[in-house]
Amino acid sequence: MRFCLNVDHIATLRNARGEVQPDPVTFALMAEQYGVDGIVVHLREDRRHINERDVRLLRELVTTKLDLEMAAVNEIIDIACDIQPELATLVPERRQELTTEGGINVIDNIDQIRSAIERLHESEIPVSIFIEPDINQIDAAVEINADFIEIHTGNYANAVSEEDIFEELERIRIAAKHAKKLGLGVNAGHGLDYNNMKEFLAIEEIDEVSIGHAVLARSMFVGVEQAVKEMIKIIRHR
Ligand code: PXP
Repeated sequence: MRFCLNVDHIATLRNARGEVQPDPVTFALMAEQYGVDGIVVHLREDRRHINERDVRLLRELVTTKLDLEMAAVNEIIDIACDIQPELATLVPERRQELTTEGGINVIDNIDQIRSAIERLHESEIPVSIFIEPDINQIDAAVEINADFIEIHTGNYANAVSEEDIFEELERIRIAAKHAKKLGLGVNAGHGLDYNNMKEFLAIEEIDEVSIGHAVLARSMFVGVEQAVKEMIKIIRHR
């Protein structure tokens, strides 16, 4: 399982003062040195954290893989086509939300998502869609030629009782198997942390996880190197 680090909230902290520190690009490059497999950023329409300068610099400097999360809207698709990330991940976006709250409803927005995928594919950018672990959503993603899905793991992360944790893991496992069978690459993310990753590793069909908050928060206490390496140790079992 590969581990990609989302650095959005380094930019949130920077923007709180409207100045230049802490710099998400520096953080991303340090994390690459410590072994992450890729960097993820979400360029939101309201630019609340990551901005165009960050994305363009990351494009120049990231040597692993850049995954650009984005809404399926023309303004951001134009930027993606220009900077050419290794992966574009389509996510739902609402101004009022604190963070992405769930997967895209591909079935209800099929024309918009299809045309976003077509435009990104014209620029040879592989596309992932962030969705719930739901067979119908996966089938819709295949129908419109997505290359990957990213399974929303928020409900698993929020589950408290053993029974709920087991149920959510099963939903994800079934969805991941289904997606793999149909030829999709399978990523996952949201709310994954140093504890819940341990059980999550049992789902062998997941190719890659995208983790942000837990690692960024821990880095404040133990430093970037230790926070990144601890997560890598869990994910790679060493
Ligand atoms: N994947 C997607 C699509 C997201 O929107 C986010 C949150 O920005 C993440 C993964 C990472 O979630 P977290 O910050 O909770 O690890």
